[in-house]
Amino acid sequence: MLLSAQELATRVAELGRDIAADYAGRRPVLVGILNGCFPFMADLVRAIDIHVEVDFMRVASYGVGTASSGEVRILKDVDMPIEGRHVIVVEDIIDTGLTLQHLIDHLGSRGPASIELCTLLDKHEARTVEVAVKYVGFRCPNEFLVGYGLDRAGLFRNLPYVAVVSTNDA
Ligand code: IMP
Ligand code: MG
Repeated sequence: MLLSAQELATRVAELGRDIAADYAGRRPVLVGILNGCFPFMADLVRAIDIHVEVDFMRVASYGVGTASSGEVRILKDVDMPIEGRHVIVVEDIIDTGLTLQHLIDHLGSRGPASIELCTLLDKHEARTVEVAVKYVGFRCPNEFLVGYGLDRAGLFRNLPYVAVVSTNDA
């Protein structure tokens, strides 16, 4: 186990307070990236005590096993118009950064008032493209993680904590 349910809850509450303070008087759109964001997004929005709107995207990266290929395909786009809106993209984890870079280009082309990124986990050492992430829950080691939304081959998303998959099982 890397992060307990209690550690996650404490940090997510802090992120929610930070976002509420930074966006006071505005009404941001939180865009969650499915599937991995769902527990984090659900907890995060309940920690934000200003009006927010919520939308989701789903992307697939053409990867083999646990490696990110960098090519991103949009399977589900946002439903609401984001022109002129303050957008916060909510991710479970940033690894190479390629997925987010692609999403920022995609969403940015629609003329939002601003775009910021919020990730629960930042695997900083694995970054191949620099993306500026405003809200980071935790920096984490360059290992394969599961739980609290993160999966390996579709499993373990339902763990209430975040754990490292030992290289022996990977
Ligand atoms: P990136 O494009 O390399 O930044 O990849 C980001 C995506 O890869 C995340 O949204 C996850 O879906 C997936 N991913 C990266 N690292 C992990 C991990 O350690 N466990 C589970 N999924 C991961
Ligand atoms: Mg993901």
